[in-house]
Amino acid sequence: MKYIGKNFSIENIKVINLAKKYKTPLYCYSYKKLRENIINFKKNFKNLNPIICFAVKANTNLKLLKEINKLNLGADVVSVGELIKALKAGIKPKKIVFSGVGKTSEELSFAIDKKILLINTESKSEILEIEKIAKLKKKTVDIGIRLNPNTDAKTLSQISTGKKQDKFGVPEKHFIELLKYLKNSKYLKVKCLSVHIGSQILDNQPYEKMLNVVDRIIKKTKYKFQFIDLGGGMGIAYGNEKKQLNYKKYAFAIKKIIKKHDAKIIFEPGRSIIGNTGVLISKIIYIKKTSSKNFLILDAAMNDLMRPALYGAKHRIIPERKSNKFVNKICEFVGPVCESTDKFLTMKKFQKVNEKDLVIISDVGAYGMSLSSNYNERLKPMEILIKRSKINIIRKRQKHSDLI
Ligand code: LLP
Repeated sequence: MKYIGKNFSIENIKVINLAKKYKTPLYCYSYKKLRENIINFKKNFKNLNPIICFAVKANTNLKLLKEINKLNLGADVVSVGELIKALKAGIKPKKIVFSGVGKTSEELSFAIDKKILLINTESKSEILEIEKIAKLKKKTVDIGIRLNPNTDAKTLSQISTGKKQDKFGVPEKHFIELLKYLKNSKYLKVKCLSVHIGSQILDNQPYEKMLNVVDRIIKKTKYKFQFIDLGGGMGIAYGNEKKQLNYKKYAFAIKKIIKKHDAKIIFEPGRSIIGNTGVLISKIIYIKKTSSKNFLILDAAMNDLMRPALYGAKHRIIPERKSNKFVNKICEFVGPVCESTDKFLTMKKFQKVNEKDLVIISDVGAYGMSLSSNYNERLKPMEILIKRSKINIIRKRQKHSDLI
């Protein structure tokens, strides 16, 4: 993804041509980038030889999941819907883990029937429910118990999951009690200790703290876990970060632990695999000038990309056509939705652009389309994938008739 001459292009295809043909707003992904990310992720943790389960919630597009399957990743799912999608994409049940605090009995029953690798449980009630279902089905079920390590992930509070006030996992004391209880269970086998402390983590320290807790608990319980599932959370560079996650250091810290406890590592990365593979192409509908700033009103809105409105997340916005003329006035990129939070980014200055020009909203591959909605009865955008210079339509644009 780069400018070729003056025009922003994805794998050598000019975005302007894509917009002309497929209209905007338009999600566009690069296969090359996806493959590169997966290769890099594997390389970073090569000496752990982990099972890598893509966090489907980050992007649920079936075609992308198929590509991810072909590149040999498994799946981390959090609902029966995601599980069905992952299976449909060809991902083998034995490469699927199921997480989440509120799995219903129907969801659990479906997962048990499909014989997935692990159900990562998050409470005693859930464990009792699985036990009940397993007994009825006369099956043994492999489970993990998700630990809440009470570790601050030092990320946005809304996407932090590993502190004691968060709803996720069970605290150390309960973890140990549950493990004791399950030792005598006829139907459930505890195979995994799982943990996931949050998302968009750029600091190694929270991961190291988390590993210390994991290490301490395994020592204390002397339990032989076949798997340690460390979740995902690896952050990416959206543009204004000062830090970058040091994978080498993280891998080294993990290696130290598994040397002692000899377990297979599972990862559940979402954002680090898919985040920077996608852009959202949008057209400027109007430019509304006020005395203090210019509003650039786009045809994309918070329903297409929710992250800025929901978390105050910042995605870089760049013009489709590069020039060296700038307007030295605050410009605010907003969408047409009737909410003041329908706002993507405010910049002190931006290149001079005109109504009908295109802009590119960057790094929207993760939690972009998957968080989209039909708010204001707006249609969900189209998604395309560029693979080896070929354009693949991987989701059609919704039609008004789809909503009626
Ligand atoms: N495993 C579990 C149990 C999770 O809850 C999550 C994300 C992941 C793995 C993947 O995390 P990742 O590698 O993508 O950071 N919508 C928010 C992010 C919410 C993440 C929820 N859980 C956002 O747009 O930033």
